[in-house]
Amino acid sequence: RQYQIAVIVGSLRRDSFNRKLADAIVKLAPPEFSFKQLSVGHLPLYNQDDDGSPSDSVKRLKAEITVSQGLLFVTPEYNRSIPGVLKNALDHASRPYGQNAWAGKPAGVLGISIGVIGTAMAQQHLRNILAYLDVPTLGQPEAFIQAKEGLFDEAGNIGSDSKEFLQNWMNQYAAWVKKHVV
Ligand code: FNR
Repeated sequence: RQYQIAVIVGSLRRDSFNRKLADAIVKLAPPEFSFKQLSVGHLPLYNQDDDGSPSDSVKRLKAEITVSQGLLFVTPEYNRSIPGVLKNALDHASRPYGQNAWAGKPAGVLGISIGVIGTAMAQQHLRNILAYLDVPTLGQPEAFIQAKEGLFDEAGNIGSDSKEFLQNWMNQYAAWVKKHVV
């Protein structure tokens, strides 16, 4: 069978390292996996008053999550947490109450930063949110990536230094998704 994965990137920056990482790591996935990045940059700020009349961008976000078999979060760390853009998307698709689109979808969490802790705190905050949203999230291996020369090759693929590590991450992620999809 095929596995469709919704990819959520927590940065809107044009030259985002996290988007580069998301684009590169999906190339390491098994052939039965396909990936689609969700647009989170044009969502309105979440307002509970709008629960009864969600905008088209919110409806599209929820529909794309619903048809997916799994989730892949790739996010920067902003001030030791997740960016507001990502939290906004998480909140939107969790509502209205009882219609949480994320629930039950197996997930993986990745992040890259220029700092040495490589988004570790943001990832822990994200895991806390995902636990509440009933999202089974791959625990190991963790991947805290620091942006370094040579991480990506000229074609935008994962460079040789990190290839084995990230290939293993992807193999474990793919197995995690398969385990949760009946
Ligand atoms: C950062 N950055 C950052 N890095 C980090 O390791 N820990 C942090 O807490 C923060 N905080 C932070 C806050 C804000 C508002 C910005 C704009 C940046 C630096 C961050 O790692 C760097 O900008 C990355 O390049 C962001 O990821 P993208 O946009 O390249 O994917």
